[in-house]
Amino acid sequence: MSGGPGGGAMFPIRVRGLCHAPNGRELLSGVDLDLGDEGITVLLGPNGAGKTLLLRALCGLLVPCSGTLDWGGGARPERGVMMVFQNPMMLRASVLANAVLGLKPLNLSRHDCRGSGMAVLERVGLAHRAHDSARLLSGGEQQRLALARAWLTRPRLLLLDEPTASLDPSATAEVERIVREIRTDGTRILMVTHNLGQATRLADDIVFMSGGRVHEHTPTRRFFSRPQSDEARRFIQGELPWRMSF
Ligand SMILES: Nc1ncnc2c1ncn2[C@@H]1O[C@H](COP(=O)(O)OP(=O)(O)O)[C@@H](O)[C@H]1O
Ligand SMILES: [Mg+2]
Repeated sequence: MSGGPGGGAMFPIRVRGLCHAPNGRELLSGVDLDLGDEGITVLLGPNGAGKTLLLRALCGLLVPCSGTLDWGGGARPERGVMMVFQNPMMLRASVLANAVLGLKPLNLSRHDCRGSGMAVLERVGLAHRAHDSARLLSGGEQQRLALARAWLTRPRLLLLDEPTASLDPSATAEVERIVREIRTDGTRILMVTHNLGQATRLADDIVFMSGGRVHEHTPTRRFFSRPQSDEARRFIQGELPWRMSF
């Protein structure tokens, strides 16, 4: 299947002129973006910039009013793109049952499903909680479980929307370790964060959005030392007030 897990056909992803204006209010105003097949891209921008809307459009959850999304020269693949939300939804079921949700379409045997589930829970440090109720997990543990659930489907592209927004530093570090491992496993990652330290630790490159538009897409080091757009410069100065000049 073209663009399925393990396939390379869905890259490069080319977004051109994406607009979304429900009820006449322009929320995405001509987004252009290119994503190659490797690495971690961090999407930065102020609240209301359109970051979540862009992830939702890439995931197929939002049908934009106009513009094109080209996946390696073709249409959006049916499988291979996963999104983890800021507050992931947990079924009222065990941690293991939640981890293997995405395997349902594969019709694996109970034994294989359980084996894969336990293996991924091991990798996110939750194997010892496998039979607990998922809803009893802490915020950080739920976020790790959501990552495990997505990882198990071996997506080619993983979209993460502020996965550490409400986590303490140690839970944040654990999520960052898992995100790196998923990348090393061959998954392309596009991640929204407001944590600029996290962006410098994880990102190969930065996409900066504001007012429903992408203003720049730059390698990480250059973004923070020499942002190209006034909007990005102002954003960095607002977040890092001790850095007054570039
Ligand atoms: N379904 C919707 N209907 C109307 N407005 C929306 C909808 N979803 C988001 N918005 C608005 O679109 C703008 C961008 O939202 P969003 O993508 O969530 O921003 P952020 O960059 O903070 O993730 C915000 O002003 C938000 O209020
Ligand atoms: Mg958002």
